[in-house]
Amino acid sequence: MSTKLPRTTNALVLRKSPPGRTPLFHDAVVQEQPVPQLKPGEILVKMGAVAFNHRDLWIRMGRYPRIAIGSTFGADGAGTVIAAADPADPLLKQRVFLTPMRGWESDPNGPESDFGILGGGSFPRLGTFAEYVVVQRTEVLPTPTHLNDEQIAAWPLAGLTAWRSVAHAGISRGDTVLITGIGGGVALLALQICVAMGVSVYVTSGSQQKIDKAVKLGAKGGVRYSEDSWPDHLGSLLKQNGAPLAAVIDSGGDEILGKVNRYLKAGGKVVCYGMTAAPTITMSMREVMRGHQLIGTMMGSRADLVAATAFLTQHKITPVVAAVLPGLRVAEEGFQMMQKGSQFGKIVVKIGEREVKANL
Ligand SMILES: NC(=O)c1ccc[n+]([C@@H]2O[C@H](COP(=O)([O-])OP(=O)(O)OC[C@H]3O[C@@H](n4cnc5c(N)ncnc54)[C@H](OP(=O)(O)O)[C@@H]3O)[C@@H](O)[C@H]2O)c1
Repeated sequence: MSTKLPRTTNALVLRKSPPGRTPLFHDAVVQEQPVPQLKPGEILVKMGAVAFNHRDLWIRMGRYPRIAIGSTFGADGAGTVIAAADPADPLLKQRVFLTPMRGWESDPNGPESDFGILGGGSFPRLGTFAEYVVVQRTEVLPTPTHLNDEQIAAWPLAGLTAWRSVAHAGISRGDTVLITGIGGGVALLALQICVAMGVSVYVTSGSQQKIDKAVKLGAKGGVRYSEDSWPDHLGSLLKQNGAPLAAVIDSGGDEILGKVNRYLKAGGKVVCYGMTAAPTITMSMREVMRGHQLIGTMMGSRADLVAATAFLTQHKITPVVAAVLPGLRVAEEGFQMMQKGSQFGKIVVKIGEREVKANL
């Protein structure tokens, strides 16, 4: 069996920003690397598709913890198991996606041990942006049958974050929620999960076109955060519907609490998973007096990912893919798209059949 296996793989690797480049921006280069020998418990996945997250851009900008020059990019990826240390492994030939994190099994409060996310970092020293990835067999989950590799690659990190954000929001059928920055991967999956739950969703975005697309996916309406008066517009929309917000799922940070407090019911929750607008969140006595709760959240556990994927499968949710790039050699376009922020949904890289065959 081993003679048929690839000895090397192309991978997208983080290379140090050249001296003098200001602001700092590390390079992303395709490099040929050896495929490690399979150790007990390991499998070899031939990747079909991988997907970007905003953190990949933060890493190139040097604005992420534990960055490791020389490491492979990517937390998200999916493909087919083509070899296993155990020749009778039932995972052989199965379509799978990789768990994007390590160190968090099931504790609802947070990671049980040292937590790390795949791609670009020192722990774990593993990234998905490659033709072949060797991984522990326990660190993959089966791909739902209604999704192809590009669609499931768009799911793990963002889907997990969205799932836990929705859970923290404590919402259920009939509630109303605001999701900010709807063009983002996490925000869109939160929208899809909420719509499947029967929750009414309002959104914000920098773009009217993205709001219109969100409405097609089931949102009730939306407002542009680029307009200072967006909270008033939101108030008008909510008035038409007659329901205050039970929760806000936010990726911007900054003054979100002050902007929504008029429309958030007493005891309502603001769940924040990102800081795209500012790295701080202001909370005043006004929110305190209304019992508003600010809840920070970060990805989730393996148990959360299993539950989230079961929900995805049950409701036949298809993650929104903004673009599929043809191969690692054009991955730079994905970084540029994220910098512009023009995408609606996830940016995916298809790992080409040709480059895989050429490497066997
Ligand atoms: N806590 C966690 O575990 C976790 C997990 C994943 C991501 N994150 C963080 O969450 C954020 C979004 O990540 P992503 O991967 O979904 O990003 P993404 O797909 O690149 O999308 C970027 C998002 O930023 C929004 N945005 C841009 N400027 C904004 C502003 N001034 N105010 C409010 N929103 C603004 C965009 O909204 P429009 O396109 O609609 O304008 C879009 O939703 C990032 O900061 C990321 O690091 C955190």
